[in-house]
Amino acid sequence: MLTKKKAITLAISGILAASMSFSVAAKTTLKLSHNNDKTHPVHISMQNMADEVKKETNGEVVIRIYPNSQLGNQRESMELIQSGSLDMAKSNASELEAFQPLYGAFNVPYLFKDSEHYYKVLRDPEIGGKILASTEGKGFIGLTYYDAGSRSFYAQKPIKTPADLKGLKVRVQPSPSALEMMKLMGASATPLAFGELYTALQQGVVDAAENNPTALTLMRHGEVAKFYSEDEHTIIPDVLLISEKSWAKLTPEQQKIVKAAADHSMMTHKDLWAKATEEEVKKAKETMGVEFVKVDKQPFVDAVKPMHDKALADPVIGDLVKKIDAAR
Ligand code: GCU
Repeated sequence: MLTKKKAITLAISGILAASMSFSVAAKTTLKLSHNNDKTHPVHISMQNMADEVKKETNGEVVIRIYPNSQLGNQRESMELIQSGSLDMAKSNASELEAFQPLYGAFNVPYLFKDSEHYYKVLRDPEIGGKILASTEGKGFIGLTYYDAGSRSFYAQKPIKTPADLKGLKVRVQPSPSALEMMKLMGASATPLAFGELYTALQQGVVDAAENNPTALTLMRHGEVAKFYSEDEHTIIPDVLLISEKSWAKLTPEQQKIVKAAADHSMMTHKDLWAKATEEEVKKAKETMGVEFVKVDKQPFVDAVKPMHDKALADPVIGDLVKKIDAAR
């Protein structure tokens, strides 16, 4: 006969074995790193994607999101992904240019006519799709794009013409295109990680930066830069990536679900982004006292035109840029 103690021990080990085999067989947790706040629209869209993946895989695939560069800045996250120590990351085309030159096709200033042109290009299998898939063999692949608006200059003074940039140290992302753009506009470019920018602006390490307006409020840059000059020089998408090692761990069915959820979240993000930008601009003006300055874009367009011409003739990105132009 079983003693009571023995019966309880057996019951507990049975439960443990059942739950262990459940968690080992059934659950894959993917860690996703990014450098925005959890109130940022891209974080919210990625959470929507993660929720869809969890639901559609019956909890078998769980994506856990780590915001605010907790797992490293964008560059560090990419390196962790390539070495297979991190599953997923959100970066952007500017930063990715150093890992895959084809992303540089998106970094040509004044490339997109409007939002319709932009989405058409991102969703075109021959352009956006081709670029996402192009890093196969480099340790990661792209899953989808997220609208990150257009980028303009902000500083403690209005920047109405390229002449206003002369002698200014402008923080840029670590990308060859960003450096070239600043050179053509007459400024001196300082590449820095996004998370270091607030202090750099505050301490005068840089005089200006460029980004979409959410950086003013959600990264609090509006506290240290009171003029946002709307020259809208680039429209650079954010990009969701997964390591090839983590991708290979998923079953073909799970891969399909993850890809579909990523695509859905890209499209629901479109409206979310527009609404969030409007709200953040209002907040920047009303609660932070940031002045939004209208500028005549033509002198900026003229200053960087050589980049477009050069991109069209480039052996690596030329064909893509031609296709982007043709999709106008
Ligand atoms: C955008 C983008 C960030 C990026 C940042 C930057 O805001 O969403 O992921 O890091 O630009 O300028 O570095």
